[in-house]
Parts: sequence; structure tokens; C-alpha cells
Amino acid sequence: MVGMNTLVTRLLHLLPPEAAHNAAIWGLSRGLAPRVVLPVEKRLQLTVAGVPFPHPLGLAAGFDKNACALDALLRLGFSHIEAGTVTPLPQAGNPKPRIFRLQEDAAIINRLGFNNAGLEAFCAHLAKRSGKGVVGANIGCNKASSDRVADFVAGLQKVYPLASYVTVNVSSPNTPNLRDMQAEEHLTSLLAALDDARKKLHDRGVKPRPLFLKVAPDVAEEGEHPLVDMAVRHGLSGLIVSNTTVSRPEGLLSHNKQEAGGLSGTPLFEASTVQLRRLYKYANGALIFVGAGGVRTGEDAYAKIRAGASLVQGYTGFIYGGSGYVPAVLEGLLACMERDKVTHIRQAVGADA
Ligand SMILES: Cc1cc2nc3c(=O)[nH]c(=O)nc-3n(C[C@H](O)[C@H](O)[C@H](O)COP(=O)(O)O)c2cc1C
Repeated sequence: MVGMNTLVTRLLHLLPPEAAHNAAIWGLSRGLAPRVVLPVEKRLQLTVAGVPFPHPLGLAAGFDKNACALDALLRLGFSHIEAGTVTPLPQAGNPKPRIFRLQEDAAIINRLGFNNAGLEAFCAHLAKRSGKGVVGANIGCNKASSDRVADFVAGLQKVYPLASYVTVNVSSPNTPNLRDMQAEEHLTSLLAALDDARKKLHDRGVKPRPLFLKVAPDVAEEGEHPLVDMAVRHGLSGLIVSNTTVSRPEGLLSHNKQEAGGLSGTPLFEASTVQLRRLYKYANGALIFVGAGGVRTGEDAYAKIRAGASLVQGYTGFIYGGSGYVPAVLEGLLACMERDKVTHIRQAVGADA
């Protein structure tokens, strides 16, 4: 017999991807979500950058761009939700269609382009949340902005008091030239401006929050060490590795593979995990890592953790797995730990590096 949750996931997949997404957000934001009851699992509990997490698996940025379904998403079992990317002004994003399923590849291509309702709505939603749970705010800049650094600073200032942590997104492939901000000359001024803005907030008594930088899997290898060095120099807590890729790995089966945009899901797993391992090794304990890219199973999450991730995030795996995603990944993760006689997940962090 097909369970109710599987049925909902299947029905959503009969709709075009963006309509399915909007229907899911609509339902979730009205509380039409199952509650996934997870047993308290001490072996998976951890504190990262001073924030306590019940387990490592969170929902990656881009699912709840406007922070309007956070409590329902937390009820699905995620240990944290990264809301956003939010830009200072509301923005429509790119023309539709702009999300494509690559079903045979367990992948998605999107070229949304930061469609979102803007900072004001985002912060209003965050401020009126009743529930507990870890919520990060992922900030970006408007496409038409003439001062991108100022956009990020405005985002930081607004979300800082409301979020458990903040992520700076300079790695989306769908805002023209955004990824150029990962280059040393641009990133240094961005991170210095953010550092300055944070210090002013702290001086005014706002509680310090962890700050993460989210990177692209397509950064050239020689650009990776400067990323780590700059993150350390400017007081960041860590890196989220990675965003979607503009590359198209060999062997993709779906006819949608030639669509422009960022590829996510299983075909991204290998490259993003290898990059994570390299960055983790080079950082040598100076940064915290969050692993994203193709986490579909507990084995995948375990591999990210062994490559250096303290936390992992999934998006595409959740789209295909539905409300059973979190319990399935956690069950698989615990099975990997039992097989390897790992008694607490923190022992596995970086074990392959
Ligand atoms: C439809 C879609 C929209 C996304 N939007 C954002 C976004 O707004 N900001 C961001 O930092 N990442 C965004 N991402 C990237 C994800 O957060 C994640 O880094 C990436 O998809 C890799 O994880 P996955 O393979 O589990 O999907 C988006 C991904 C998808 C599929």
C-alpha cells in the first residue's frame, strides 16, 4: 500500500516543478504537513559554532526563500532550515520555466535567479515565528543593484538579530557575475564590509551569530586556498560546500540536461564532496564545514561528514524523497556508524581527510 506521504510526493510530481514547489510551500505554510517523530538520538546531537543541533541534517537554502514555512519544515525532522536566498528588494527572477527535473539522474536544474519577496517580508516572517529550532538566513544581492556589497550589508543588518546563523551567498550561477565575487579582490572587500557591520551590531548589544560563506563547486582549484584564507582572516565560522554546478558531468540521461542553470542532486555529489575534502584539509581545523550536494541517502551524508562536514544539507534529495527523507537519511547514517563502530558522529568528521 502506498503511504499518504508517498502519495502526496507522487501527486506533486505530476505537476510542473515550480507549481509543485508552490503547492508544497502553500500547504506547508498552512500547517498541512505531517509531523515526523524522530527518536532523540544522542549519537547525532552536536553543537556547531555554538549552536546546538539535534542531528546534522538540514534543509539547504532555496526551498523556503521567503521564510514562510519554517515551522512546518522543522516538523519534517530537519535539524535546521536555511531560509532564503533573500535580496534587499523583492525580485521576480528569471522567465519561466526555470526549474527542470532530471528524474532519471535524481537531479534538478534551476535558473530561478533569486525570485523572492525581499528583506522586509522575510524578516517579518522570521520575527513572528513562534516555534523553536535552528533557522539560518541566506543573503544575496539584487540583480539590478549598483552596489552589491551594500546589498549584502543591508541583508546582514536586517537578518542578524532574527536568525540562528547567516550565510553569504556569492555562489548562485543564476545572477549574472555573482560568482565573480568569489575572486580574491572582490571577496576581501565584501567580507571586510560584513565584518565591520557585524562589529557595529555587536557594539550595539546584538548577540553574535555564526557567519558562513557558501561556495560554488566550479571554483578553480587554485582559487580554493584564498577562499579559506579570506574566510579565516575575516572571522567567518565556516564554509558551505557547495552550491549548484554549471558543469554537466558525463552520463546524464535526462533530456533536460541541456537546460541552462545550476545542476543539483546525485550528479553533484562526487565533485562537491571532493571539493569539501580538499577545503577541509587545507583549513586544518580553522573553519567549520557544511556539506551540501547530492545527499540522498545516509551513506551520502556519512561520506560528507567523513570528508569534513560537521553538518550536511539536502535539497534535491528531499524533492525526490518527500517527507520520508529525513528519517531515511538518519537511519542510514546510524547504520553506517554502527558498521564502523563510531559511537558519536563527531568522531567521523574529517575521518577521510
Ligand atoms: C530549485 C533550487 C533553488 C535553489 N535556490 C538556492 C538559493 O536561493 N540560495 C542558495 O544558496 N542555494 C540555492 N540552491 C542550492 C541548494 O541550496 C544546494 O546548495 C544545492 O542544490 C546542492 O544540494 P542538493 O544536491 O541536495 O540539492 C537551490 C537549489 C535548487 C534545486
